[in-house]
Amino acid sequence: MMESVLILGAKSDIGKALAREYARHGYDLILAARDAGTALRDFASDLRIRSQRNVILRSLDILSVEAHEDFYFSLGKRPAGVICVIGYMGDQTAASKDFREFKRITDTNYTAVACFLNVVANDFQRRRKGFIIGISSVAGDRGRKKNYIYGASKAALSAYLSGLRARLYPHGVHVMTVKPGFVKTRMTMAIKLPPILTATPEDAARQIYTAQKKDKDVIYVKGRWRLIMGIIRLIPERIFKAYCNF
Ligand SMILES: NC(=O)c1ccc[n+]([C@@H]2O[C@H](COP(=O)([O-])OP(=O)(O)OC[C@H]3O[C@@H](n4cnc5c(N)ncnc54)[C@H](OP(=O)(O)O)[C@@H]3O)[C@@H](O)[C@H]2O)c1
Repeated sequence: MMESVLILGAKSDIGKALAREYARHGYDLILAARDAGTALRDFASDLRIRSQRNVILRSLDILSVEAHEDFYFSLGKRPAGVICVIGYMGDQTAASKDFREFKRITDTNYTAVACFLNVVANDFQRRRKGFIIGISSVAGDRGRKKNYIYGASKAALSAYLSGLRARLYPHGVHVMTVKPGFVKTRMTMAIKLPPILTATPEDAARQIYTAQKKDKDVIYVKGRWRLIMGIIRLIPERIFKAYCNF
């Protein structure tokens, strides 16, 4: 039997592109989404036919943290890798007034994802193999006034993945952090994105697959975002707070 990859947030455009990419390279897939059975049925049938790979659907709401262990250990054969694509931009204005929206952003991007990855990490460490990919964001590299609540949750995820990478490295388990800049997806469809800084989900999936095979630690999609965020991080707070209105 072939090795499989578990994709959390498989209904997202990036999740679907990753599913196609890993299937193209011979992996079986376990696709998880909140309503996997209905939402992903047609996508999975199409993928099975095109790739001749085994594609299994599983439902998971990442916020149901008590269900994580049961979900993971009921998968049968454990996956060779886990990719978490789950994310929630939310409404910052609402979140700054309503703790429920604040908590939903924080939990969806960080707390619940980290709880799930704790389960995976312990299993992979025991088995001394596997890879974990977390989709974070350039928004986590510096808090900006327009999306600092989402950004803070992604910063927490990036810090978590960095520590997890160091913990699992001696056990032969690889952890990769992905920081997309702009990707043309459902999440960003209402925003006018500059083409030169914007990737398609397919570009993102190709870059992620290639980087994972090379055991990269942190990647930016597109690569030029590394330079941009390096410069943005260097701007002194005094200037950033007064002039950087983005
Ligand atoms: N697009 C960009 O420009 C961009 C930039 C930087 C980082 N990212 C990150 O890239 C990842 C994919 O984003 P995307 O652009 O493809 O947006 P998206 O389509 O909104 O994807 C987000 C995914 O998260 C899932 N999700 C949200 N809450 C969940 C929950 N409680 N339980 C399980 N799944 C949940 C959504 O599930 P449903 O399908 O059920 O709603 C959706 O599949 C996210 O982590 C995002 O933060 C995107």
